[in-house]
Amino acid sequence: MNPEEPDRNLAIEFVRVTESAAMAAAKWQGRGDKESGDQAAVDAMRKMLDTVEIDGTVVIGEGEKDEAPMLFNGEHVGTGEGPVVDIAVDPVEGTRLLAEGRSGSLAVIAGAPDATMFNPGPCVYMEKMVVGPEAVGSIDLDRSIEDNLTAIAAVTGRPVGELTVVMLDRDRHEDAKRQFRDAGCRLQLITDGDVAAGILAAWEDRPHVDLLYGIGGTPEGVVTACAVKALGGEMLGRLWPRSDAERQLAVDAGYDLEQVLTTDDLVADDDCFIACTGITPGQLLDGVTLDARGATTETLVMRSKSGTVRTIRARHRLEKLRRYASIEF
Ligand code: FBP
Repeated sequence: MNPEEPDRNLAIEFVRVTESAAMAAAKWQGRGDKESGDQAAVDAMRKMLDTVEIDGTVVIGEGEKDEAPMLFNGEHVGTGEGPVVDIAVDPVEGTRLLAEGRSGSLAVIAGAPDATMFNPGPCVYMEKMVVGPEAVGSIDLDRSIEDNLTAIAAVTGRPVGELTVVMLDRDRHEDAKRQFRDAGCRLQLITDGDVAAGILAAWEDRPHVDLLYGIGGTPEGVVTACAVKALGGEMLGRLWPRSDAERQLAVDAGYDLEQVLTTDDLVADDDCFIACTGITPGQLLDGVTLDARGATTETLVMRSKSGTVRTIRARHRLEKLRRYASIEF
C-alpha cells in the first residue's frame, strides 16, 4: 500500500465549533432553563460550523425542520466546498445537567464521509453496550448480563467484582440493575449523559469504566459510535421502540428491530471525526470556567483513521472575541 500524504483532520476544525457552543451554553448553567442553554449552543455551533470548509448535511440533528429552527436533520452546513460529509450534532448533550448545574454536560459534533452514518428513523431509543479495546469481541446483546460480565472479566483479567458498569438511572432499567447487583460488579448510575459514559467505557487510557449498558438516545448512540471507532473499542446497539405505534412506524420504514447493530453499522467508514467540549465539569472533561478575563475550555478531539486522541485546553479572551464575533459569548 502506498503511504498517503497527510490530509485534513476535520476534528481539529470542529474544536472551534464545540468550544463556541460550550462557551455560549455555559452562561446558562444552573439557571433551570434547558431551552435557552440549548438554543445558545445551537446558534453558536451553527455559526462556527458554517466557517468549516465542508459540504455537510446534518443527519443526526436537533430534530425535524419544523420543530428545530437550526441544525435540523437534512440541513446543509459548512461552506459547501470540500469533502461531502454526514454531520451529527448534539450542541448540549445533557440539557438537564446543564440547566440543573450538574456535572457532565458536553457540546459534541461528529463527522463521517457522505451517507455512512446510521439513520435511526422514527426510533428515539436504542439498547447500547460499549467496551474498550481489551474487551472487543466479548460482548453480545443476546446474552445475559451475567454472561457478558463474565466474558469481559475473562479478557481483561479482572474479576467481575472489580468491573465498573455505567447505566442511565431509569425505570426501564430496573431489571438490568438487579442483574448487575446480583452479578456483584460496581454499578454507576447516571442521571444523564451516556455519550460521555460511552467514551469513558471505550477509552483504555482512562480506565474508569468497563462497560456502558442501557437504553438511551439513538442520536447519542451514533455520536458515541464515532468515538468508539477512534478509540478502538466496540459498540453494539439495537433499536428500542417506545410504543407499539413507534414499532409499527419503524417496521413500515423497513427497520429490523431484532438486528444487532455493530460499530460499523452505526458508522460505516473508518474515517470519522469527533470533537466534544465540556460545558459543566465531569468525569470525562473539565467544564467551561468563566472568569473576569475570559474562559477556559477543555476539548477531546479524535479521528478514527489515525486513532489520534487529543485533549485541547484553550484560553479564550472573551472581551476580544466580543469585539468582532457575531456569537454571543
Ligand atoms: P439530552 O441532552 O437530549 O436531554 O440527552 C441527555 C440523555 O441523558 C442522553 O445522554 C441519553 O442518551 C438520553 O438523554 C436518554 O433519554 P431519556 O432521558 O429520555 O431517558
